[in-house]
This record gives sequence, structure tokens and C-alpha cells, in this order.
Amino acid sequence: MPSLIEALMSQVGRKILTGVTGVLLVFFIIFHLLGNLAIFGEPDAMNAYSHFLHQLGPLLWIARIGLLLFFVVHAWIGISIWLNKRKARPQDYKVYSTKGGPSRQGLSSKSMVFTGFVLLIFVVFHVNTFALGDMNTVVVNGVEMHDIKTLVLDTFQSPFYAFGYTFVMLLLGAHLGHGIWSAFTSLTVSSKKVSAAIYTIGVVISVILAIGFLFIPLYIYFGGGCEAALIQCN
Ligand code: HEM
Repeated sequence: MPSLIEALMSQVGRKILTGVTGVLLVFFIIFHLLGNLAIFGEPDAMNAYSHFLHQLGPLLWIARIGLLLFFVVHAWIGISIWLNKRKARPQDYKVYSTKGGPSRQGLSSKSMVFTGFVLLIFVVFHVNTFALGDMNTVVVNGVEMHDIKTLVLDTFQSPFYAFGYTFVMLLLGAHLGHGIWSAFTSLTVSSKKVSAAIYTIGVVISVILAIGFLFIPLYIYFGGGCEAALIQCN
């Protein structure tokens, strides 16, 4: 009987692992966008939200380690599946064919490894900027907390960050546009009809997430941060 590790490393096991880690990462991304939108809320909402997360102490660290594990496993297996496919078929087919249903081999599916790789580099760079960098503190209702809101407003005054983030968020949309469908079809036995519905839902979610994220740097950059009508500064 194959061990659990052998089962997980089989072709089917690896597809399931990328699917499960991909779905969990999408949940994180949705949750992260909702948290970030607090920048448009009450003046202290974003700092209070970040402070709440930091107050979780060991729970936050468990979540962070889990998240890191999901990113690493997802990227590692994604790259290994791609390398195996290349080994098996060194030359790309000019025309993609499927067993009947419409092919999902669009630009976003063919660029999954590229967009995924850029996102991986982005996450390292991004965590270093917003989660590990030096931060000022602010006192809210007598409680001292990190002034993450000012850091975000300051960062997106720079065209390099504002447009760099916008570009990466477009790649995030492209990655999820194919990835959500791919994860769900790996994890479920679906008919052609269900598969088409999952594809459409996946694309809609990806577009909402990409627009939601890229709105933040662009709005701050063009609205001048503190002067922007939507953003209330202290
Ligand atoms: C405009 C887009 C984004 C903005 C403004 C943004 C903002 C932030 C901020 C402010 C933090 C620090 C949170 C805190 O310490 O309280 C953070 C952390 C983080 N972000 Fe983002 N983020 C964006 C997009 C993304 C995307 C697309 C991903 C993943 C693909 C991502 C992954 C992370 C991760 C992994 C952390 C570290 C979480 C932690 O350890 O606390 N972010 N982000």
C-alpha cells in the first residue's frame, strides 16, 4: 500500500494538493482585500483592523506559518507539474484540443507558471514592505498601534509602487482567472455544464479581486492620498 506521502506525490495527489492550497489561498486573498478596503472606512479602521490581527499573538503566527506553507507547496507543485509536462511534451502544441468541451487553454492558462512566479516574488517584496518594515506608531483611544494606514498612503504616492502594484494585480487576475476553474475541476468530478459554470464564476471572482486590489494603489496615487475625498486622514 503506498504511503500517504507517495499518494500525495502521485500525479493525482499533486493535482489535488495544488487545488486545495489554491482554494485556501483564494480565501486568504478575499479576506485580505476586505481587510485592505478598511482604508476607505473610518479614519482609524485600517490601523484598528491590523492591531486586532496583531493582538491574536500565537494564533496569528499559526495562520502565518500555514499561509507560508500553502504558498510554498502551491508554487513548488505547480512548477513541478509544469516541468513534468514540458519533459513529456518539449514542443508546445499549436492547437489545443479537448475531449469535446471548449478548450480552457487561453492566455491565462498558458501563462500560469509565469504569473505564479511573478506573484511569488511580489509576495516576498510585499511582505517586506508592509509587514516587516519599520513602522511608525499612532495612539488610538489610548492604545498604541502600528500606523499601517500612513505606510500604505505614503507607499502609493510613488509611481513605481502604484503602477507596479497595478501591473501585478492584473497578473493576479489572470492567474486566478484560470486557477479557480482548474482547482475546482481537480477537486470535483464535474460535467461539461458544471465546468463551464465554474469557469464563469472563477473569471467573475478574479475580475472583482483584481479590480478591488488595483483600485487601492491607483486611487491613492491619483487622489493624492490624504487629499482624496474617500480617504479621511487623521
Ligand atoms: C493593493 C494590493 C494590496 C495591499 C494594499 C496590501 C496591503 C497589505 C498590508 C497593509 C499588509 C500588512 C498587514 C498588517 O501587518 O496588518 C499586508 C500583508 C500581507 N499581504 Fe498584502 N496587500 C495587497 C495585495 C496582496 C496580494 C495580492 C497578496 C497575495 C497574493 C498579499 C499577501 C500578503 C501577505 C502574505 C501579507 C503578510 C500577512 C502577515 O503576515 O500579516 N497582499 N498586505
